[in-house]
Amino acid sequence: MTDHTFLQILENDSGLTDIPATHDWLKENKKSIELKLEEHGAILFKDLPTETADDFDQFVSTFNYDTFTYEESLSNAVRINKTSKVFTANEAPREVEIFLHHEMAQTPTYPKNIFFFCKSASEAGGETPLCRSDQLYEALLRADKTLVESFEKFGVIYNSIMSSGDELISGQGRSWQKTLGVSSKNDAEAKLSKLGYSWNWIEDDNLSVTTKTLKATKELGNGKKSFFNQVIAASLGWKKNSENQIAPVRFGSGEEIKQSCIELISELAQSLTLLRSWQDRDILLIDNYRVMHGRKPFSGNKDREVLVSLTN
Ligand SMILES: [Fe+2]
Repeated sequence: MTDHTFLQILENDSGLTDIPATHDWLKENKKSIELKLEEHGAILFKDLPTETADDFDQFVSTFNYDTFTYEESLSNAVRINKTSKVFTANEAPREVEIFLHHEMAQTPTYPKNIFFFCKSASEAGGETPLCRSDQLYEALLRADKTLVESFEKFGVIYNSIMSSGDELISGQGRSWQKTLGVSSKNDAEAKLSKLGYSWNWIEDDNLSVTTKTLKATKELGNGKKSFFNQVIAASLGWKKNSENQIAPVRFGSGEEIKQSCIELISELAQSLTLLRSWQDRDILLIDNYRVMHGRKPFSGNKDREVLVSLTN
């Protein structure tokens, strides 16, 4: 049976009305919050007095985790920093859907925890789908064991186009200059070669990049595994390389992942997905190792503003 109860909701029962009191409460309850996260994978904090990016920065800081900085990451999303550890979730236009993914699973380094803060909810849409990928792993194993074995045997490689300069119309529009933290083509190549990636320059100084082979599943340490990769988001949302029509994600052997397999994975994920609407001041903490997230398109007069902070 589908377990949609994995999201634990913590209401502001203690009547916290200011930031210092919230911090004291967080410090006192840190251990039990961490245990809940360990058990369930996602926690929603409701009605806290957190209102600004700075308040949110302080909320995250109270946990004392190592910050996973956006500048140093290989994230492909365009984001805007609000504080040193808080940035906008994704600057992609409102009509663009961001499909289920694990944050930065298409890169060798990714964060453990993701904190989201809803500064301003949209009028319509803009929900965040959440999917437990340890449940997806189990479901996939039941539906097609051979497919899971192929993912585990071969791993996956990702091909993506990095534009020269940010491209705001895309959910993956961060430029190669910013993604790689370089300003020249020579430095870009040096960085890619250090990562073990392959590449070729395409028209308009854009860059087609293929990662080294990355694992497609993750051991969670409790005997379980998660389907930890970017297969859904890359297959459904990333643009194809227009020059050679290479699929954004393939098995590490170079073999294509069949369309029917992608459909099966998406359908199973869909059946396990909890669609969560935002309310102003909601703070959501998820375990990126076993919960995927995304963003539904949104509309209305109000701008959706969801901020993010990543930690280890
Ligand atoms: Fe994300």
